[in-house]
Amino acid sequence: MFGIVIHLKKVTSTMDIAKKVSYWLSPPFLVISDVQTSGYGQYNRKWLSPEGGLWLTEVLELKNYTALSLLMSILVVRVLEKYVSEEIVKIKWPNDVYLNGKKVAGILTKVSGNLSFVGIGINVENSVSGSLSNTATSLSYYTRVDRSQFLNKLLKEEDSLVSLYEQIGFRAFVKEYNKKLIFLNKQVVVKSKSVICGEAIGVDESGNLLINKGFSRVERISSGTVVSF
Ligand code: BTN
Repeated sequence: MFGIVIHLKKVTSTMDIAKKVSYWLSPPFLVISDVQTSGYGQYNRKWLSPEGGLWLTEVLELKNYTALSLLMSILVVRVLEKYVSEEIVKIKWPNDVYLNGKKVAGILTKVSGNLSFVGIGINVENSVSGSLSNTATSLSYYTRVDRSQFLNKLLKEEDSLVSLYEQIGFRAFVKEYNKKLIFLNKQVVVKSKSVICGEAIGVDESGNLLINKGFSRVERISSGTVVSF
């Protein structure tokens, strides 16, 4: 899918580079860097990006972007499952990927005009240090893995995934996504515009999280953070 792959050694953030390059290069293309000095995640949180991890931004031009970041979390899950047992790979809605209860990958999507910038960060060969290791992990703690081999598998898997998404939309992936949801059928607390408590019963075709609040009241949440599960 990616005719052009821009591989750099050290950048501030692949998101920033991809944005700049998009003014003169047509999509799809991919920017990857060995190290990021100012990597960032959702809510502008700092994203540590040392050597050994996969830090990349894809620039895509798609017909529709509904639940694109959830789709990308499925992509990462599928590749991780080629390395470790599938029971330990989960998704925390909307798009955090977990390995044995700790975050291993994050996705950040930004849409600008007709372009979508998909940032993917995966702790592949790098280690996770300090207090971060309480909540985050690396694939290398579970198996021998080569970063460039991981990337090849990811790009190969992505071709068919995106082509089905373009044809049918996220609808084609809802079942697969819900199977991986870390808190499916569990009581959760979600911080959205308000705080919502109830049973997480899955996502819908638009990627909204469905919370059963009891007495047949189901709330659809389009954005927010699950703070407890
Ligand atoms: C998150 O979980 O909050 C999303 C993390 C996204 C990190 C990736 S690493 C590659 C790309 N460049 C960045 O600065 N961020 C994304």
